[in-house]
Amino acid sequence: MQIDLSGRVVLVTGAGRGIGRTIARTFHHEGARVVALDLDPAALEDLREEPLADLALACDITDAEQVREAVATVEQRYGRLDVLVNNAGINAEGPLESFDPALWDQVFAVNVRGVLNTCQAVIPLMKSQKAGRIINAASFAAIIPSVDAAAYGASKAAVVQLTRVLASELGAWGITANAYAPGMIPTAMNGFAALDETGASTKLDQLSVRRWGEPQDVANLCLFLASDLSDYITGALLDVSGGKFATQDPGAAFRAL
Ligand code: NAI
Repeated sequence: MQIDLSGRVVLVTGAGRGIGRTIARTFHHEGARVVALDLDPAALEDLREEPLADLALACDITDAEQVREAVATVEQRYGRLDVLVNNAGINAEGPLESFDPALWDQVFAVNVRGVLNTCQAVIPLMKSQKAGRIINAASFAAIIPSVDAAAYGASKAAVVQLTRVLASELGAWGITANAYAPGMIPTAMNGFAALDETGASTKLDQLSVRRWGEPQDVANLCLFLASDLSDYITGALLDVSGGKFATQDPGAAFRAL
């Protein structure tokens, strides 16, 4: 059995760069018709040059009206939407004691409200099809959060819980909803690429597969979750972190080599 997504219509948020861009590219290569959304017009321009999206739309997912318009465009053009990948997300760091409440709201506006907006916009269409896949970017931070990243961790934990509720509310319509938890993937969102050798080594010691994650690792999981192979998986949080803290000290196995 092969993963065959030819003709499926797939909406990817935050597709302008980073993991989202690789998700868009991967679905495109599997024959899907990719609709790419991003806040950043420059990233969308760049994306149009690499023709990996059938349609690239500027859209701020925190704005329910903009999201509704984008989904209406998709419905007019294709008459259906098979897969929603809620990839867009932001991070903001600082100690909780002095964390700017406006920044807290901003993190939740993108990471949680943004997911609510896209889900509310696509669910009626997916229900009418009696089929659909919702795939939400959580994070390993939803499992074990980091110091100085309470807003991010809490927002991603919220994504996990809303995904579980969606799975149960939508199962009767043949729609699945799953979340995934990437670990450490060097992108513009984080400082992994800038770590010195000691800093990098300390981080990599947390992993059972001792390498940084790659956007492709996440894209491959999204492909599986979008395909017929994952029909019986819903309400799950799939860890795609290279076995981060699968044990208390995964690095011990590598030091023993
Ligand atoms: P990134 O910062 O490289 O890319 C995020 C994209 O989302 C950007 O193109 C940005 O313009 C877009 N975006 C941000 N706010 C938006 C909004 N309001 N409306 C529409 N688009 C918006 O981030 P990266 O690393 O590719 O992360 C993608 C997802 O994976 C995020 O949800 C992130 O939380 C999650 N993740 C990433 C990890 C990593 O190690 N890179 C680890 C765990 C989770």
